[in-house]
Amino acid sequence: MKAILVDETNPRPEGRVRYADVPDPELGPRRVLIRIHAVSVNRTDLTYVAGRYGAARPLIIPGEDVAGVVEAVGSEVENVRPGDKVIALLPGGGYAQRVSAHMLSVFPKPTNLSYDEACTIPVVYLTSWISLLRRAELKAGEVALIQAAGSGCGVAGISIAKWAGATVITTAGTDQKVARARELGADHAINYATGDFASEVIRITNGAGVDVCLESVGGDVYNNSVKVLKDGGRLVSVGRSAEQSDASPRGEADPAEVSRRALVVESFALPTAVQTGEARREIAVITELLEQGKLRTVVDQIYPMSRARDAMAYLDGRKNFGKVVLHPWE
Ligand SMILES: NC(=O)c1ccc[n+]([C@@H]2O[C@H](COP(=O)([O-])OP(=O)(O)OC[C@H]3O[C@@H](n4cnc5c(N)ncnc54)[C@H](OP(=O)(O)O)[C@@H]3O)[C@@H](O)[C@H]2O)c1
Repeated sequence: MKAILVDETNPRPEGRVRYADVPDPELGPRRVLIRIHAVSVNRTDLTYVAGRYGAARPLIIPGEDVAGVVEAVGSEVENVRPGDKVIALLPGGGYAQRVSAHMLSVFPKPTNLSYDEACTIPVVYLTSWISLLRRAELKAGEVALIQAAGSGCGVAGISIAKWAGATVITTAGTDQKVARARELGADHAINYATGDFASEVIRITNGAGVDVCLESVGGDVYNNSVKVLKDGGRLVSVGRSAEQSDASPRGEADPAEVSRRALVVESFALPTAVQTGEARREIAVITELLEQGKLRTVVDQIYPMSRARDAMAYLDGRKNFGKVVLHPWE
């Protein structure tokens, strides 16, 4: 089958992504063979191309969330059958025509979504949903600050926080993304490139600050997000997009401020939620809300998988509002 191989050891970044022939994946008793119709590009995928893991993993297939059709199941699999339309959350391997996924990471595809839309759900919806509602316990009537409106996590976060009945303030780096964030339902969208987002948040909230922040940028954005929390406010850090090199300044909450103002500042990692079974429970709830039209996803661009390098460059260039999707059979 065709797949995208990332060779992290190649010293030339432009030579690291290869469209290649690889053997079909093997099934195994607890595994599900999926013919992939669409796979989404996540920011994490870019870190492999950046060569940050080096010789530790010389050849990998990226791709953590896919949508497709079950072709075969292992002898112990009971939750899905051949022919079922599914989505799956993977440790990698999704930039391919087929994948062998663990049965506990395969879920029914939301019936009203296309494959392109459905493959955008597992990683960023689970991340934003668990962070906002289970960790930060966002409630109706509260104010939520969602950083990076156009990011996969940001789009999911805006949709989820609005569904939860919160007032949503969000940020983005261009007027075009600000306009799209408002269309998606954000009550306030700030272009941080033309003004200081923290003073805008304080102005919008009449000096009060926000109850909850979904933070995915890191660095100064993280630090200033902590500052605009109300006393007793909750921040969940899901990513550090601005800290991709060792030279980038790291965002750090001052423990004295956290304690004095009774803040809750924590991090979320999806692999942990997968291991504990939380991801599996929560995706069922998310799927139901998507099917009822209460949550929305946004597909920005679709590329043939053979052009994965261009798709990754689009994300790397921060051009996306929503998700970028690959078609493995083109
Ligand atoms: N904890 C977890 O399990 C988990 C799960 C999913 C994702 N993540 C992490 O969460 C973050 C967001 O992921 P995503 O896939 O939603 O991202 P994405 O779609 O690639 O969007 C990232 C956005 O962040 C904004 N940004 C602001 N400053 C940036 C900077 N210095 N460098 C790069 N981007 C910057 C950009 O929008 P503007 O230009 O408009 O500011 C950019 O488009 C990533 O760090 C990812 O690794 C973590």
